Amino acid sequence: MNRENMEWCVSMPKVELHAHLNGSVRNSTLFELARALGEKGVIVFSDVENVIMKDDRTLHEVLKLFDLIHILTTDHSTITRITKEVIEDFASENVVYLELRTTPKRNGSIGMSKRSYMDAVMEGLRAVNSVDVDYCPTGLKNDTVNGTARKKIYVRFLLSIDRRESTEAAMETVKLALEMRDLGVVGIDLSGNPIVGNWGTFLPALKFAREQGLYITLHCGEVPNQEEIKAMIEFLPQRIGHACCFDKENWKKLKTAKIPVEICLTSNIRTETISSIDIHHFVDLYKEKHPLALCTDDSGVFSTSLSGEYGLASSAFSLGKTEMFQLAENAIDFIFSDDGVKANLRATFKASVEKLDL
Ligand code: IMP
Ligand code: ZN
Repeated sequence: MNRENMEWCVSMPKVELHAHLNGSVRNSTLFELARALGEKGVIVFSDVENVIMKDDRTLHEVLKLFDLIHILTTDHSTITRITKEVIEDFASENVVYLELRTTPKRNGSIGMSKRSYMDAVMEGLRAVNSVDVDYCPTGLKNDTVNGTARKKIYVRFLLSIDRRESTEAAMETVKLALEMRDLGVVGIDLSGNPIVGNWGTFLPALKFAREQGLYITLHCGEVPNQEEIKAMIEFLPQRIGHACCFDKENWKKLKTAKIPVEICLTSNIRTETISSIDIHHFVDLYKEKHPLALCTDDSGVFSTSLSGEYGLASSAFSLGKTEMFQLAENAIDFIFSDDGVKANLRATFKASVEKLDL
């Protein structure tokens, strides 16, 4: 993609619905953290450097990389730092609504509970200063500086259940999400290594989450486990992530159910979940007007950005500016927020039409 197109994609308002906190950390921050831990003798810096710099990783290698990232980002203050940076990075490329997901972690040795992990995340959100943040579903902040409205980003959180977790641990995450609703936690995600764990393990927690009114999105079809894919579609989550390895029957089921799909192009190609961009299922879904949203998944790990994903879609699938704008605006329909937020976002998009030369 040429520079001019990329700049245009950056200037377009965008909605990010599938971003993992620890997958979105800047490389420079990972290096800084690794160097500090290397000096303390906790890790060998050169080993970590090689892993971070590797470009093409299979899904299995990516998940191993997360074990390493989690060593670098264990303590509360680091969680606060990366949350602040990730939100500022998305805001700087004109993401106007961000649903950030993260797996609350417990680590007895440093006095971390799932709640204190999330408190550190919230502190990071409050530390953001390059942009105004609307994070509380009930209160709309509308700050102005020197009489001009400042740039604003809506941030909402999804708490992830890792597929390694037990039913009880998953339930604890759902209860935490309910406790933190007033702070902008709106839903639950199921993620982690797709060949680990069974759907049935998480079902009680997911059903409870739904009964309590939380939104649900599931990583679905990263591996060709058709039985699980079928069960996930029948559960009717509000969204699913990826939808890569579906057989014909499940593909038909997905389309009939009209469940919105979070599409992560670079992630699918880099992890070789999809062998080549020209056969990506985006094309089929897009042609049939199936609800979908372009997302990054892990902008740090895959060295991408949401603007980059729009640029990639534009060049791979020959989308013009109007189509890209429409695609970005349509994502508003699938956010886990109320009609008031949707209306504000639509107004933001409308206001940008002229500047974008559409
Ligand atoms: P965290 O939840 O903030 O720690 O973000 C990293 C976590 O997100 C990983 O440990 C995985 O559980 C999950 N994750 C990130 N990318 C993927 C993916 O491509 N597939 C499945 N899970 C993922
Ligand atoms: Zn993901």
